Formats: sequence, C-alpha cells, structure tokens
Amino acid sequence: MRIERNPSAVSDEDLTRIFDEPGFGKYYTDHMVQIDWSKSDGWHAARVQPYAPLSLDPATSVMHYGQAIFEGLKAFRHPNNHVYAFRPDQNANRFMKSALRLQMPALPEQMFIDSLRNFMQVDGRWVSDRPEQSLYIRPFMIATEVGLGVRPSSQYSFFIIASPVGPYFPQGVKPVSVWISTEFVRAAPGGTGEAKCAGNYAASLIAQAQAAEHGCDQVVWIDALERKWIEEMGGMNLFFVYGKKVVTPSLTGTLLRGITRDSILTLCKDLGFEPSEAMISVDDLRKGLESGEITEVFACGTAAAITPIGTIKSDQGTWSVNSGQPGDVTMTLRNHLIGIQTGLQSDSHRWLMELC
Ligand SMILES: Cc1ncc(COP(=O)(O)O)c(C=O)c1O
Repeated sequence: MRIERNPSAVSDEDLTRIFDEPGFGKYYTDHMVQIDWSKSDGWHAARVQPYAPLSLDPATSVMHYGQAIFEGLKAFRHPNNHVYAFRPDQNANRFMKSALRLQMPALPEQMFIDSLRNFMQVDGRWVSDRPEQSLYIRPFMIATEVGLGVRPSSQYSFFIIASPVGPYFPQGVKPVSVWISTEFVRAAPGGTGEAKCAGNYAASLIAQAQAAEHGCDQVVWIDALERKWIEEMGGMNLFFVYGKKVVTPSLTGTLLRGITRDSILTLCKDLGFEPSEAMISVDDLRKGLESGEITEVFACGTAAAITPIGTIKSDQGTWSVNSGQPGDVTMTLRNHLIGIQTGLQSDSHRWLMELC
C-alpha cells in the first residue's frame, strides 16, 4: 500500500487538546485510506493519503441511487501501548455481505485488515491512552461512476477514516428511554435490513425524530409484517434479561447482525448467564415488565458497548425497567466486554487484533 504522508499533520500539542474533549465525529485523523475498484482493474491504487475533501461530479451514481455501505469499529490503546481492534474480521465479513446485497464489489477480508494496519501504522498516535477513550474507525464504500442510468456502478471507491471518541457516558452510565415505533419500520423481509447501507439510516431518521417528540432518546423497531415482534433499537441490538436468562431477538433477516450482540451471547456463557435467541413480541415485553419477570433491558453496539434501558414507551403506555437504574447483569456484561476491549480482562476468545 502506497503511503503519502500529510505535510500538515496535527501537532502533538493540538492532539493533546483534542483528547481533552474529543466529542464524537468532531475531529478526524491526519490520513485516510482509499482503494479504487473498476471492472477492468478490480481493486487497485491502494493508498494511505492525507485526509481531504473528495471532489465528485454531481452526476456521480452514489448521490442518486445510493450505493453506499459502511462499517464501524473501534481501536483501543492497551496498557502495553499497542493498538488493538475488536473483531475487525467480523466487520470485514459483514462489509462483504453488505456489498453483495447492494450489487457492489466485495473487498477481500485481507485487504480490509491490511488497510486498517497500514492506516494505524501512520495514524496510530490518534489512539489515546486515556481511560475510556478510543478511536472510532469508519470504513465505507461508494459508487463513483458518473451517469444517471439506474444500474450498478462500474466504479467504486473504498475509504477508511477515523475519529477519536471519549466515553459514551462521561457522567457515568445512565439508562436511556426508548419509543416503540408502530408507524415506521426499519426493514422488511427481502429488504436491506441485514446490510449496513446508508439508506437504512436515512429512512430511520423520521422515527428517531418521533421518538424525540415523545421525550425518548431512541427508537425501537418492530417487524414490518405482523407489527408485533421486537427487532432492534436505533443503531443497536437489544437484550432482555429474565433473572439469569439473557434473551435477544432472533436474526430473522431484517436485523443487523451486530458484532457486539454476538460477543455478548458468548460472554453470557463465560459469566454463568443463560443466553438465547428468540422472537419477543411487544406484548411479551409489556407482560414481562408488568409481572417483574423481565428484570433488565439493554442495547448493545460498537459506539456505546452496552447501554441500559430505563424507560420504554409506546402508544400503549410507559414502563419503567429496574426502577430506571442500570441492572447487575447489564453492568457485569458491560464491564467485562469493555475490560476485554481495553486490555484489562483476558481475551480468551482471541477477539482482539493488534494493529500497531
Ligand atoms: C442498525 C444497527 N443495529 C445494530 C448495530 C450494532 O452492531 P455492532 O455491534 O456490530 O456495532 C448497529 C451498529 O453497527 C446498527 O447500525
């Protein structure tokens, strides 16, 4: 991979100031990865280059027909001062599946991983060693052919950019409130729910706005056909805790296959909980909360790891979960998962990959 260094890279002093208040998606590292694809050459011209705006013809296909997919993962600086990514092979695989669904070329797993390694060898200093800080990495691919015909583009570019992030809950873990959307759905059978494509997120914004109108932080999606099965929450998967039993909605083809979700199913076994995947209806949830059978509810994803849910609202009423407090199972799983990611717990499943 060709490396072109940024002559105006951020100074060490400025980087320290950025780490003082990183925010989320506020600052980007000095470089980015780009690899192009064309029918004739396949993947070519792989490079790490200075972070810079893109110049695209207004008729570029992605801006009209939306062939755009992305991934999200984090890199953590461990006490040994090396930088590790959490299960990046899983992101590479999901990225390939998203590409296939959108008729885009698959980027081989090894190219995805090599890109991350080359990128971090140049921008590794952007991974802070401060507690609870990490580097959010955003690989994405767009269609770059110029033309207005509705057909798969004949050219694509793959990029990786990255942004330092601070703790998701700077004031300590605080349960969120959710609104169960009955008017809008995220995904339908045969649609793009399993793909991490940009359009899914555009279509979600109206429901997120409706959740906010109801005083809630996030939206919970239910299935498109029967309008009764709980699927996921905003950009996170859901878990329901029944004492020692930890249940997550089954992967029906309309949910995103969360990597955190998969990791939690494994960690549950390590920690003596009983994980399972099942269809859970809004009615099951209501009854479980009213009877006290459901003791905790949490959401999970790369950005926040695990977020407790304290209040659930729908047009049927409002329910409080565990008196609005983070539960023990939720916090045990959260601490363990973050412990592995940050190098404080042993990585017995070999989920971490050293990048630099
Ligand atoms: C719709 C949706 N569901 C779930 C997740 C959680 O997935 P992961 O754990 O791989 O971050 C995400 C985030 O990627 C998402 O966008």
